[in-house]
Amino acid sequence: MTAARIIETNEGIQSEVTAEIFDEFAKGMRDKGWNGVAEMMASGINGGDILEIGPGPGYVGLELAKQVNPRSFTGCEISPAMIRIAEKNAREYGIPARYVQGNGMNMPFEDDTFDGVVSNGSLHEWENPVQVFNEIYRVLRMGGRYCITDMRRDIGFLKKYMIYFSTKPKEIRPGFLSSLYASYTQEEMQKLLNSSRLKGGVVVKDFMGLSITGEKH
Ligand SMILES: C[S@@+](CC[C@H](N)C(=O)[O-])C[C@H]1O[C@@H](n2cnc3c(N)ncnc32)[C@H](O)[C@@H]1O
Repeated sequence: MTAARIIETNEGIQSEVTAEIFDEFAKGMRDKGWNGVAEMMASGINGGDILEIGPGPGYVGLELAKQVNPRSFTGCEISPAMIRIAEKNAREYGIPARYVQGNGMNMPFEDDTFDGVVSNGSLHEWENPVQVFNEIYRVLRMGGRYCITDMRRDIGFLKKYMIYFSTKPKEIRPGFLSSLYASYTQEEMQKLLNSSRLKGGVVVKDFMGLSITGEKH
């Protein structure tokens, strides 16, 4: 049986030091290609105005933008420390991304603003995922698509410790475990999705995690 969820945080990654360490970790994940970008592209997000929720240091969205060349790229991030790093990384990529401080549960955007909404590795930190799903519905244009990827809590003992010991830098390892314990199973997530305005979306589980995809009808 899978152990119950342990809530991690509802404030995101706020400390400058943790944000710097996370930047190093996320860069390593980008270099390995373990970042949800393939799932986002496969879900049909292929340009237009794109929003990323919880971009952290920004690599996932910047890699996606490099592939799909959006008309505009916006990140909604709760942590000012992460925004500073993402802005620096976007300058290095040469991508005119705009990062806005905000909470996915109440986003500072008009209705029907985006063609695609993506997020990786942030869902398990959202205090109320259904509220974020409803916000995604609100800010998407009709026919717009979303793809949310995250880890899943039921990967099992072996994979957990395989990932734990290969996670670098080492300082991130306790954070990996607390994030894993805060993440969802496919069944839990499908239930939450079905109780939101994104009902009709699909939750798929893979080796490491979950991806949630669909379209605004
Ligand atoms: C584990 S990091 C993942 C960062 C990045 N997406 C990646 O895959 O490398 C989660 C990010 O989501 C942000 N976050 C957490 N809760 C949020 C919320 N409610 N609204 C916006 N951002 C949030 C955190 O501050 C952090 O930067």
